[in-house]
Amino acid sequence: MDAVLAAYLNDLFRQGREHDAPLADRLLRLRNMTPEAAGLVSLLIRAQGSSHVLEIGTSNGYSAIWFADAVRDTGGRLTTVETQRDRADAARRHLERAGVAAYADVLHADGADVLARADDASVDLVVLDAERPAYSGYLDRLRRVLTPRGIVAVDNAVSHAEQLAGFRALLEEDAAFAVHLQQVGDGVLTAVRVG
Ligand SMILES: C[S@@+](CC[C@H](N)C(=O)[O-])C[C@H]1O[C@@H](n2cnc3c(N)ncnc32)[C@H](O)[C@@H]1O
Repeated sequence: MDAVLAAYLNDLFRQGREHDAPLADRLLRLRNMTPEAAGLVSLLIRAQGSSHVLEIGTSNGYSAIWFADAVRDTGGRLTTVETQRDRADAARRHLERAGVAAYADVLHADGADVLARADDASVDLVVLDAERPAYSGYLDRLRRVLTPRGIVAVDNAVSHAEQLAGFRALLEEDAAFAVHLQQVGDGVLTAVRVG
């Protein structure tokens, strides 16, 4: 990552933390992923050579900038999905200012619907960073849309382990996935599609 982009991300992350600090209502906070977690997912994208990355939960586009920068290197494309229109608009602005908008599509939509509409075996890596209780309902769609060796990366797997326990158990019981918890940032649960 070049120094200008790194500085933009540092600034955006700091602004996000300052925005969130006084807010008691979780849903009003931007809740940006940690740089460590975004960096790990970016590494996975580059190592995999991902063609299509799907992020569910864009917020203002902080992590999307990381992933758009990574797919620029792989020749791929990021789709990032956000249910709140103002946040999707903010994400488009930040991607543009960061110089990576050409590698990303920001959809104002529900991630569950986007997964339902996606073609079979069309996504190399899915990032889940939205409403954790919904993830268990995504599992059949994730299995269907992921390419062989496709990856699911789930943020907050340590900070909100109890909310993710059911989904994690489903993944671990599923022979289609090899699962490992990465103790990075707020915890990134990774599952590789092996079957
Ligand atoms: C934790 S924040 C995402 C942070 C973002 N990944 C980042 O690091 O900058 C979660 C976001 O997911 C959005 N969201 C919640 N449920 C969603 C859904 N079903 N589909 C798409 N977005 C959703 C929320 O509006 C919120 O902005």
